[in-house]
Amino acid sequence: MMLFRRLLWTAAVARGVFAAENSSVYDYDVLQYVDPLIGSSNGGNVFAGASVPYGMAKAVADTDSENNQGGFAFDGSKITGFSNMHDSGTGGSPSLGNFALFPYTKCNNDDLDGCVYPKKARKIGYDSNSVKATPGYFGLAMNSGVQVDMTASHHTSLFRFRFPTDNASSPLILLDLTDLSDSRQDNASVSVNATTGRMIGNARFLPSFGSGSYNLYFCADFRSSAKVRDSGIFVDSRASNEVQDLKISRSINGYPLPGGGFIRFHSPPDNTILARVGVSFISSEQACSSAESEIPGFDFNSTHSTAVKLWTEKLAPIRVSREGVNSSMLTNFYSGIYRTMISPQDYTGENPLWNSTEPYFDSFYCLWDSFRSQFPFLTIFDPSSVARMIRSLIDTQRHLGWLPDCRMSLCKGFTQGGSNADNILADAYLKGLSDGIDWDAGYRAVQKDSEEEPYDWSNEGRGGLVSWKKLNYIPVQDFDYQGFGTMTRSISRTLEYSYNEFVISQMALGLNKTSDFEKYRNRSGYWQNLWKADQTSFLNAVNTGFTGFFQPKYLNGTWGFQDPLMCSNIDNSGSICSLQNTAGETFESSIWEYQFFVPHDMTTLITLLGGPSQFVKRLDYLHDNNITYIGNEPAFLTVFQYHYAGRPAKSAQRSHFYIPRFFQTTPDGLPGNDDSGAMGSFVAMSMMGLFPNPGQNVYLIMPPFFESISITSPLTGRTATVRTENFDPTYQNISIQSATLNGEPYHKNWIDHDFFTEGKELVLVLGPNESQWGTNNEDLPPSVSSKAARSAELKGPGLS
Ligand SMILES: *[C@@H]1O[C@H](CO)[C@@H](O)[C@H](O)[C@H]1NC(C)=O
Ligand SMILES: *[C@@H]1O[C@H](CO)[C@@H](O)[C@H](O)[C@H]1NC(C)=O
Ligand SMILES: *[C@@H]1O[C@H](CO)[C@@H](O)[C@H](O)[C@H]1NC(C)=O
Ligand SMILES: *[C@@H]1O[C@H](CO)[C@@H](O)[C@H](O)[C@H]1NC(C)=O
Ligand SMILES: *[C@@H]1O[C@H](CO)[C@@H](O)[C@H](O)[C@H]1NC(C)=O
Ligand SMILES: *[C@@H]1O[C@H](CO)[C@@H](O)[C@H](O)[C@H]1NC(C)=O
Ligand SMILES: *[C@@H]1O[C@H](CO)[C@@H](O)[C@H](O)[C@H]1NC(C)=O
Ligand SMILES: *[C@@H]1O[C@H](CO)[C@@H](O)[C@H](O)[C@H]1NC(C)=O
Ligand SMILES: *[C@@H]1O[C@H](CO)[C@@H](O)[C@H](O)[C@H]1NC(C)=O
Ligand SMILES: *[C@@H]1O[C@H](CO)[C@@H](O)[C@H](O)[C@H]1NC(C)=O
Ligand SMILES: *[C@@H]1O[C@H](CO)[C@@H](O)[C@H](O)[C@H]1NC(C)=O
Ligand SMILES: *[C@@H]1O[C@H](CO)[C@@H](O)[C@H](O)[C@H]1NC(C)=O
Repeated sequence: MMLFRRLLWTAAVARGVFAAENSSVYDYDVLQYVDPLIGSSNGGNVFAGASVPYGMAKAVADTDSENNQGGFAFDGSKITGFSNMHDSGTGGSPSLGNFALFPYTKCNNDDLDGCVYPKKARKIGYDSNSVKATPGYFGLAMNSGVQVDMTASHHTSLFRFRFPTDNASSPLILLDLTDLSDSRQDNASVSVNATTGRMIGNARFLPSFGSGSYNLYFCADFRSSAKVRDSGIFVDSRASNEVQDLKISRSINGYPLPGGGFIRFHSPPDNTILARVGVSFISSEQACSSAESEIPGFDFNSTHSTAVKLWTEKLAPIRVSREGVNSSMLTNFYSGIYRTMISPQDYTGENPLWNSTEPYFDSFYCLWDSFRSQFPFLTIFDPSSVARMIRSLIDTQRHLGWLPDCRMSLCKGFTQGGSNADNILADAYLKGLSDGIDWDAGYRAVQKDSEEEPYDWSNEGRGGLVSWKKLNYIPVQDFDYQGFGTMTRSISRTLEYSYNEFVISQMALGLNKTSDFEKYRNRSGYWQNLWKADQTSFLNAVNTGFTGFFQPKYLNGTWGFQDPLMCSNIDNSGSICSLQNTAGETFESSIWEYQFFVPHDMTTLITLLGGPSQFVKRLDYLHDNNITYIGNEPAFLTVFQYHYAGRPAKSAQRSHFYIPRFFQTTPDGLPGNDDSGAMGSFVAMSMMGLFPNPGQNVYLIMPPFFESISITSPLTGRTATVRTENFDPTYQNISIQSATLNGEPYHKNWIDHDFFTEGKELVLVLGPNESQWGTNNEDLPPSVSSKAARSAELKGPGLS
């Protein structure tokens, strides 16, 4: 079944690519432009190692950096080991990083206790010039002279250790029952088979931004031209070859007591040892059988070439004209695309929590980040994977009661505001994804978010629903006795819940649930209840000149107060703005930024803010004064909201203001956590010149950063093209003068998803100055309260 689907899919893509208008322009190897090291330092927290698309096994060198959330931080920190599971770009504590291997050429004095076992004592530097990362491969040279290369299949890592020539070598490789954040719980175990050298075992760990715990199993096998000398276990700093089985406690002091297994070889003639590590959430047997079937012969090259092939296929749909463009732009673009397929991770067949024939994905970390452009982007060029992710989200709701908002390592992650899975489901629904998705179940799942309050809304759903339905806003210091969570963020929750209601109304509309549609559309207007028309804002005691901002409101209807700049990027007063129970009424950002988060009713918002020109002034003020920070996801849409005020040229200018200035192709080049590829999708979709308003069938049109771009829909095999005239690779000509769609004049400054599935051609004539194109009322994207939206509603979403 799987094989059959893959063949069909590849054929569809190949057809599309060859059907592209000018195949010679688009005929190049994209992987040369993927640099997995982008974002691997300075808090980007990107996973830089070896993985297949959405793979569960992720091999990399782990470091002792402050920023080791993704394992390897390319910042001169020391290597603590080479482990098998990772997340990418996350904040919070370091995620996963389980069962690290660590190699020695020999132990001091040829004594087992002459090797150093504890992670904190054994860590070591590496040659920074030796670091090499490409899709499906990572390698470096340790200061001990050991060259370590790694590649991966879906559930299995393959490590190659090449030891320096040393006539007294007797290489030892240890396997540590640890993880990156030292969260191991009681009773981890390892058993080493003295005959085969196989190590199996498991340990329970904690998720990095959520509740509960997870149990992970491993199966490690080793292959070398040398004979096994001995094997055994270690505890703390001592090892023995007379003991093969260990069950170890967490212990009470400091980080978990070091413990694990080791295997030692005689001197290998070729100085090489291969280690194959399978992982499973089900059992060691399953870890072993995955490893045996995925990498039967320990063949490094063929495992690597399979990974390269999978990445090449995934990246096949998107091609650009490279004419005149600085290659760093191509690297920025393709590396961003690549990072959108590291996570979520496909754990189908690895879910111990319930039995189901549905796919199971994990590492949705977090949907608050990824609904904004990562999911909409994948829906364009990898819709079959998105369909499987959505089936998994719906199946998770079926078995655990609620759609996740964040999920990692089989655990519930913390909610940040709204119920953002609603936005993801609606986005895919409106764009016609079907592919086995039970949309009735999907609708019931999103509706539950709106109607039922979970007991623990820190982990799922929404809080404050009694007030929401009675008062029509989330009050500051709410009285909420039905469910429990952190009683903060009343403004950002009100805004995000309003948007969730809107997207639910759009699904209801598509499913012909007319009264639901009206109910949720009505609720989608509740954001207006926190609008305080006479609120001012001062920056360094100087009036910003703008009046009217969102403000907190008590249960009794009296206004509270939060400085509109509190928690902004330029708030240096030490405000607490995350999930702390002392935090403010906006999450990780200010009222100034959240005031633009009304993605469904920009018409009403613009009116409240004083009309289009006042709106544009406010948006400029937000960006020009660094009130927003492009390194956090709420900033994404603000770059392009000029479109709604009839100024599409300013959206293009703004995106060039941020790219490449804030998105460089260096390890420290990202402005913040990549957040599972959220930043990657932002940079790629911005450069593509089509940015989504997520949860709506709307892409805002800008000139691409390339002369032309072609995207083949894997669903239909058709190729959509954006072609420009007067393209200037120094980006002086970034204003659209006129456009045609399939040869007909096109004035709207947005386009819908049919563009991709039907393979249309958009031609943009560019020039240096802002023009009249896309500026009239009828050219603007739909808003719930505008005429355009009403007629779109009558038509309903087209399920293609
Ligand atoms: C197609 O490719 C050829 C050869 O590279 C080039 O000369 C021509 O300009 C291209 N045409 C378009 C429309 O990009
Ligand atoms: C190993 O090399 C060292 C230094 O080159 C030499 O002194 C020693 O005799 C060699 N030992 C063996 C076993 O060949
Ligand atoms: C760990 O193992 C000990 C000894 O077998 C047992 O008493 C204890 O209940 C176990 N702890 C857990 C958390 O399973
Ligand atoms: C070690 O592996 C061999 C070969 O699979 C097996 O026959 C043997 O029973 C294993 N030993 C232990 C102690 O499990
Ligand atoms: C593996 O690939 C490398 C580089 O492509 C090549 O030099 C080497 O000979 C290959 N090794 C094997 C065992 O095929
Ligand atoms: C290409 O971009 C890089 C990185 O921004 C820059 O250092 C380099 O000067 C650019 N090259 C040219 C020819 O503009
Ligand atoms: C899933 O099915 C297997 C085999 O029937 C069973 O052993 C296991 O307990 C089931 N798991 C759950 C969570 O129900
Ligand atoms: C909704 O109603 C329209 C018009 O009656 C019909 O064409 C469409 O198939 C219906 N959609 C669903 C999902 O029932
Ligand atoms: C919307 O809700 C308000 C208050 O809950 C109510 O008065 C109004 O009639 C509703 N409108 C619609 C169209 O349902
Ligand atoms: C409303 O509640 C707030 C917070 O408890 C209180 O400060 C305020 O005085 C109340 N207003 C009225 C009119 O009772
Ligand atoms: C905004 O921040 C940039 C650096 O990121 C700085 O160059 C610029 O001067 C700042 N602008 C203002 C108005 O503070
Ligand atoms: C920019 O656009 C103008 C037309 O407005 C055109 O004359 C010029 O050649 C373009 N610049 C480049 C570098 O193509």
